[in-house]
Amino acid sequence: GFIAGGDEGERDLIVKLRNNNKNCVVFYGSQTGTAEDYAHKLAKELHSKFGLGVLAADLADYDYDNLQDLDPNCLMFFMVATYGEGEPTDNAVEFFNWLETEAEQMENLKFTVFGLGNSTYEFYNAMGSKLNDKLELLGAQRFAPYGQGDDGLGTMDEDFLAWKEECFDSLKNNVNLEEHELKYEPSFELFDELSLLSADESVSNGEPNKLYIGNVKEITRGPFDHLHPFLARVTKTKELFTSKDRYCVHAEFDLSPSNLKYTTGDHLAIWPSNSNEDVEKFIACFNLGEKRNAVFSLKTLDSTVQLPFYTPITYEAVVRHHMEISGPISRQSLKSVAPFAPTEAAKKECLRLGSDKSEFAEKIHNKKLNLADALLQISSGTPWDSVTFVFLIELIASLQPRYYSISSSSLAEKSTIHVTAVVEADITEEKVVTGVATNLLKDIEVSQNASDDRRYATYDLWGPKNKFEKFKLPVHVRRSTFKLPSNPSTPIILVGPGTGVAPMRAFVRERVALLKASDSIKLGKTVLFYGCRRRDEDYLYREEWPDYARALGDSFEMNVAFSREGSKKVYVQDNILSKAKNLNELLEAGAFIYVCGDASKMARDVQNAFVQIISEERSISFERASELVRSLKVQNRYQEDVW
Ligand code: FAD
Ligand code: 2AM
Repeated sequence: GFIAGGDEGERDLIVKLRNNNKNCVVFYGSQTGTAEDYAHKLAKELHSKFGLGVLAADLADYDYDNLQDLDPNCLMFFMVATYGEGEPTDNAVEFFNWLETEAEQMENLKFTVFGLGNSTYEFYNAMGSKLNDKLELLGAQRFAPYGQGDDGLGTMDEDFLAWKEECFDSLKNNVNLEEHELKYEPSFELFDELSLLSADESVSNGEPNKLYIGNVKEITRGPFDHLHPFLARVTKTKELFTSKDRYCVHAEFDLSPSNLKYTTGDHLAIWPSNSNEDVEKFIACFNLGEKRNAVFSLKTLDSTVQLPFYTPITYEAVVRHHMEISGPISRQSLKSVAPFAPTEAAKKECLRLGSDKSEFAEKIHNKKLNLADALLQISSGTPWDSVTFVFLIELIASLQPRYYSISSSSLAEKSTIHVTAVVEADITEEKVVTGVATNLLKDIEVSQNASDDRRYATYDLWGPKNKFEKFKLPVHVRRSTFKLPSNPSTPIILVGPGTGVAPMRAFVRERVALLKASDSIKLGKTVLFYGCRRRDEDYLYREEWPDYARALGDSFEMNVAFSREGSKKVYVQDNILSKAKNLNELLEAGAFIYVCGDASKMARDVQNAFVQIISEERSISFERASELVRSLKVQNRYQEDVW
């Protein structure tokens, strides 16, 4: 981020708190931005309601070895997400390592924890509950109950609100703090830069390379990470479905001008921008039309709060490139925007919906309304022109990169990354709800391939001069642990229905490339289980598989489950069960299992299928077979890449 305070880079928490006159910390371990967003909002509310001096802090930005020397009156809140298979978020890895291996007694520490997780995954909220238990074990004092939220059930916001209420009760009853009415106090001051034009060199129009101002070399040299993307050319795109209303885009990114590297099985993070449709609606809602190309700068009013983006910048660039404007909204956000309502009736309605869980679900959440949709519905179309832009900057989460399982092999194509993205669109009574990143990829695909003009949304990136700046998108690579066995003669069982086939295509291409590189190599079996609805609708990379089969010969076997062709659904796990004997033999010969795709049901159903196979083929109990599968996971012989 962009830090305006004087002690940026200060890693000593005690010094940081003292310098900035703070007595409370909200730490966050965040991957997709939710924990971070909650942490900032909680920090503001704790300040406004309880008069605490609160530091919202990234777990990666501090050292932890003096936590036990903190002022015993200092209150610590931890908002920690669990990622993937019970893992910490990238920014919390070091903290959890320290906690496991180095942390000592901490009787002075006063803490509470809120975990963010997803109950469709096996290790639900593993990090939140681990942190809570460990701090207790080290003697730290919990001043408010542990809480956790569930993204799987879609109740994260409500879970957070419920926990927050309990926390506030504890602050009143156990910590003896007095609660005041919430009053909005801006954390930033906005200056209109009347002498600057959007075309000026120093002004950001949302281009990610403005991040490198003053250090132009880094544009191609990196390092590229979650703050510094590389602007990669999209060299080729292709629509993979043949259906009328569902799309899936294959896109290829050229890394060659950079030193950016990937290995097969990694993820590509794509930094999206909002669609024209969503931007226009937002601009209309807040009456920003006249200002859209005007330039402003921000100054932080709290030295510990970082500016959320580079300034000077135009209003439109912020809306288009930095705000998550199209996603679902929380009950809390309706309550907090109510004071700015254009009419008394709209204000009342905001407060009513904001306080009534089931009304909110029915009128806003279930209809998939975003902020602009909801506010315009509530005000019957009257614009909300008294909402300040600083309030919107603080209210709306910042636009986050989206991750894709790379579908190319770094051995076959060193400096090109392929992704396979199914386009998210949902046609409701009110509108077409579109996923930000996937519809952007679809728009690029339509722009590149004259034969195709079907899409749900249109985009502009950095100004009208160049619709997609010659089709470049900001990206970075996220290392994953989803990796082929180091010995190519090890058999592999690949399970990837739908877009879950992406990394399986990468693995298969890798084995084809290995074979090309050396005739003498002995490849283990590659058994692929793929599933889709119908062969003439959504069969991904249909024309490629025969080539791979030819190249790999007998070592390759592909099984496809078509779920909507016959009268009965056939899924990948049905095909897996029908190959029980064969698969059990492969497992006994040391095969690795890879599962990619839907986390909510498929991954569990597939795991159960393997348990059933092992149990039946080896005549052991289901429990014993479950244990075996679990131990395969621990040994990295059963790997999942699910979302
Ligand atoms: P978003 O804008 O993030 O929207 C997400 C969903 O919310 C959409 O379904 C959208 O329709 C819905 N939505 C939008 N607005 C609202 C609203 N107001 N109310 C309610 N709902 C709304 N995906 C792939 O296709 N291929 C892959 O290989 C792949 N690999 C992944 C690997 C990992 C490790 C992870 C974490 C995810 C992966 N994904 C993959 C998923 C991908 O990251 C994105 O989540 C997905 O593409 C949707 O992104 P989007 O920006 O298009 O949608
Ligand atoms: P369906 O949509 O016809 O139910 C890719 O999405 C494929 O995965 C589709 O054929 C889809 O079938 C199938 N699928 C849906 N639920 C699944 C599950 N629980 N396990 C395995 N495959 C599933």
